[in-house]
Parts: sequence; C-alpha cells; structure tokens
Amino acid sequence: EVNIDAAGRGPAIDPTMYGVFFEDINRAADGGLYPELVQNRSFEFDPADNQDYHPMTAWTPVAADGGQGTAEVVDDDGRLNERNRRYLRLDLAGNARGSYGVTNAGFLNGLRTEAGKTYEFSVWARTDRPSGTPLTVRLTDGGTDLADPVRVEVAGDGWTKYTGRFTAKSTSSTGSLSVTAEGTGTVALDMVSLLPQETYKNHGLRPDLAEKIAALNPGFLRFPGGCLVNTGSHEGYEAPGWERKRSYQWKDTIGPVEQRATNANFWGYNQSYGLGYFEYFQFAEDIGAMPLPVVPALVTGCGQNQATDDPQLLQRHIQDTLDLIEFANGPATSPWGAKRAEMGHPEPFGLTHIGVGNEENLPDEFMQRFVQFRDAIKAAHPEITVVSNSGPDDSGEIFDRAWQLNRDHGVEMVDEHYYNDPAWFLANHHRYDAYDRNGPKVFLGEYASKDNRWGNSLAEAAYMTGLERNADVVNLASYAPLLAHEGDVQWSPDMIWFNDEKSWGSTSYETQKLFMNNVGDEVVPSTTAEDESFRQVVTRDNATGELIVKVVNAQAEAATAQIDLGDTPVEPTARATTLEGDPAAVNSGDSAPIRPRESTVDGVSSSFSHEFPPNSVTVLRIKPA
Ligand code: AHR
Repeated sequence: EVNIDAAGRGPAIDPTMYGVFFEDINRAADGGLYPELVQNRSFEFDPADNQDYHPMTAWTPVAADGGQGTAEVVDDDGRLNERNRRYLRLDLAGNARGSYGVTNAGFLNGLRTEAGKTYEFSVWARTDRPSGTPLTVRLTDGGTDLADPVRVEVAGDGWTKYTGRFTAKSTSSTGSLSVTAEGTGTVALDMVSLLPQETYKNHGLRPDLAEKIAALNPGFLRFPGGCLVNTGSHEGYEAPGWERKRSYQWKDTIGPVEQRATNANFWGYNQSYGLGYFEYFQFAEDIGAMPLPVVPALVTGCGQNQATDDPQLLQRHIQDTLDLIEFANGPATSPWGAKRAEMGHPEPFGLTHIGVGNEENLPDEFMQRFVQFRDAIKAAHPEITVVSNSGPDDSGEIFDRAWQLNRDHGVEMVDEHYYNDPAWFLANHHRYDAYDRNGPKVFLGEYASKDNRWGNSLAEAAYMTGLERNADVVNLASYAPLLAHEGDVQWSPDMIWFNDEKSWGSTSYETQKLFMNNVGDEVVPSTTAEDESFRQVVTRDNATGELIVKVVNAQAEAATAQIDLGDTPVEPTARATTLEGDPAAVNSGDSAPIRPRESTVDGVSSSFSHEFPPNSVTVLRIKPA
C-alpha cells in the first residue's frame, strides 16, 4: 500500500535538483561532443603526454603524381603563437611535379562523413614561395573521393587562416583528410581542422549528443571534471600555459581556438580545448542548465596525495577563480567580461555556483586551501555558492574527516561521490534521512551502480526516490560519467554511449530522463511498507497541481498496490510512463529494450489499486479534480 498525504507539504525541490556532469573522459570531448574530425590538428602530440604519441600522431606523409618533399614538425620562432608552438613544415625543394603533403586518419577508426552533409575545412598556413603555394585538400576513403577536392591558394609568409567547404557525396566511417602542396619552396601548416557544419544550435557541438543531453532537461551542468580538474603535479599547477601535463586551467581554454593549448588529459589522451569554458557556459545556457564549473584546489585528488605548498601559486589560482567569475558574470566592460563579449556573448552567463576541488584524499590539506578560495570568493561575490567535497567515498575515515571539516567551517554545499553495487543503492535509500538539516547541503555530484544493465538502473531509481524525498538536504544530483565513445572507454558504466555514427542512451539514461522530466516542485509526504525493492516518492507540480507518483518495483513479480490519497478528489484518468524489462537487459546501439511506454490509467480515485509490472519504474501523473 502507498499512502499519500495529498494535502501535506514536504520539502521544496529546487528546479536545479537533477543535472548532468560532463567530463572529458571516454573521449567525450574531441571527436565526441566537440566534433573535430582531425586528430592532432595542431601537431602538439608528444610522448610526454602518452608514450604512444609523437608530433605526427594520426598524420602520414603522402605524395601524388610523382611529388616529392619532406614533412617535419618543428618548434621554432616561426610558430603560430606561444600556446600553439609546433607546426608542420613541408619542404618541397625537389618537387618538380605532382604534389606532396600529409594525410590525417581521424580519431579512432577514421573520419566519418555522411552523404549530403557539409564539412568546414580550415588551416593556418604560410609559404616562402613568392608566387604562393596551391594546396589540394581531399576527403577520401581507400583512394576514392568522398567529396570534390577543395583548392586553397596560400599566399605570403605570414600566418593566415584559409578555409574551404566539402559537401560529402558518400557516407564513410573510415575516411581520411589529405592536404598536399604543389610547387617548390617551404610551406608551413598548423591547425588543420575539419568540422561538420551542422551543430547544436549552431554553437559547435555534435547535435545528437547535445540533443540527448538536452532531452534530460538538466537543471545544471557540472564541468569540466572530475579527476580531470584537480589531478596534476605541483608542476602541473604552475607550468606555463603551453607546457605538457599542465593541470586543467580555464584560462587556457578560451579565446580563438588556434590560441588554445593542447594538453594531456588525465584520462590518457590529449585534449585540444576546442571545447573550453566559453563553450561549456554556452552549452549550459542552450540546454537551460545552471553552469557549475569546478576549479582545482591545489591538492591532488583521485587517489594521489600531494598538496601543493606554495602560497603565491595558491593566490594565483584564487585570482584565476575570481577572474572566472568575472568572465561568467562581469559586465562586458570588465577585463574578463570583455573576453566573453569578444567571443560573442556580451550578456552575463549567470554563474551562481562554483566547485573548488574534486575527491581530495587529504581532507585537512584540502580544507586549509578551500577556505582561502571560499573566503576570497565570498568577499567579492557573496551571492556565489562555493561547493566543497567529501573525498572519493561514501563513508570511511577520509569521508568522516572531510565532513567534520566541512561542518566546522560552515561550508554551504558538499559534493559527494560514490560508485557502488546495485545492492548498496537498494539498501541505502534512507541515507539522507539522517543528515543534519542545519548542516551543509549535499551535491551528489557523481554516482552510479556498477554496470550498465537495467537491474543497475532499477537500483539507482530506487535510490533516487530517497534523494528526492530528502530534497531539503540533497539540492543537486548527477549520475556519472555522462558520455562514452564505445571505441575508447576508461570508465564504465556511462549514461550516453556513442560512436562516430550514432549515439544511444543506456538504461540509466532512461531512468534519469524519466526522473528529470518529472521532478515536481515539492515533496508530498507518502509512506509504504519498508521494502528496499519497492520504493516510492510523491511530489507536486505547482503549475498544474498534479501529483507525480514515482514507483520503483525492483522485484521479479508484479506488485499490486493500493494507492490512498486521503480525501483529495482527483480526475479518474492519469498519465503513466513506464520503464520495464529484464534486469540483465542492456541498451545498445543496435537495440534498446528499455524504452519508455506511455499509457493512460483509468479508474483513478482517492483510493485505487494499480499493478506495477515486475522490474519497473513507473511515473503516474494524477490530476486534481
Ligand atoms: O566519473 C569518473 C571519475 O570518477 C571522476 O573523474 C572522478 O571524480 C571520480 O573518481
């Protein structure tokens, strides 16, 4: 039996309660949400970043029609700029005929083109040949042109951006892009880029991925990590902007893309920062989500225990954080607001929350630095909520100490992370019932049950009923990680999967979407028998007065429940959305057994019975009469 006190009032639920956490893990950014098709476009890859990398990674020299030359990546005074230091030099001294150049193999399998779609090519180039250097740019697969070649005339020895456009004649997932030069002399190339013309809201992101994220109706977007943010050596925090293995620092990621560095990514591959802080803020705005950036706290997290003890460096990072707030919120006349305006967004982005640090294993060292960030931010921007964290676990010594310190220092919000077995999620739905209502609020920034099967999603959904019931403590929550390219996975399970051709939502994507689109504005008190595999939460949509009843039946048998609404008169027909299936089921690129089913439920009254299918999540929307 589910007893609902329909006239009762529970905690208010923030409209931002459920959101998404984007981290560049599993190739989520370059070649993913940021749909660059050329890998190592600026020739910056280096064995220091990854032992398999070298400056010509993904590039191969190529000659046509008897062309001759040499291709060498150089780093000298002729560079494009200080952040983008290396470039490709094609020496064509002996090139009496034909053409010589390089071909790029794309990311994991090759470049993806789709017949009829348009692709924007660009390159920065210069030549020492007085009459100029003609370039031929080709999109091919196995020697066959996927589109008509593009011709570019490089003129002059100053770096200039040249552009061209392809319309693909055929579809391929194994294409490559070649750039070959004719004539003699030396031509320099950098930032060789190919991007699909069609992007989400014309803001540069891959449409199917952005649309799937938008369909979740996220209340917030946490970015850019995760371990990506805060793990770096002491040297990483202080290294100059172009140096390898520099920790993720937001100022490296804004401005013209050719002036953004390429950096080693915590997850083992390189990141171009083509998806940078401006793009994150803009994406958050485009999907109606509150932006929630996370900056490094100068204590390495993610299993590494190193606290940077350098007061000057700490002050520089604190100032960077203040500058970030100005970049997001400052007037277009302010120094950092002007940079935002130059990038095309004079209006502020409306930043209200900022995270400092991620999963530090040294709670005392972290807190000592966190309070300095927090106090500086609050002094200048008292309206900003500064989010701390509780380390990498759901409990234990680090967790307890971190929480103690968070309480002692009057922290506003604490980011908790945990990845556990489904049984843990089923057994712990009461976790937040006992949290101190007067203590810090919780941001459950990362959680998932460890697999991508429907049984995992059922356990997560059962757990989410407890999050929602405790919305006065748990103000924000996001499943993690968000994206994974099936060809290069560092972390699984994940919410949305993709390859170069398509994307698909996991079973947990479906539960998240169902909850996130049926949150409600306040909790309505409800009870049921104590059973960890039959959970419920009820909320009210204030605009329509509807009661939103979410029921998770994680049992192998159907459960018929009497739903008792007290004296509240309701419409006889309710809307239902149901997810159900075999707990072992997996949604894949080929088949998605777990999909929502919409239906109407008749015979609804102030006391009615309803059968919940085995292994199901159901949302009933009941209208007041
Ligand atoms: O979500 C994947 C990783 O899990 C995050 O980078 C980190 O914060 C956590 O350990």
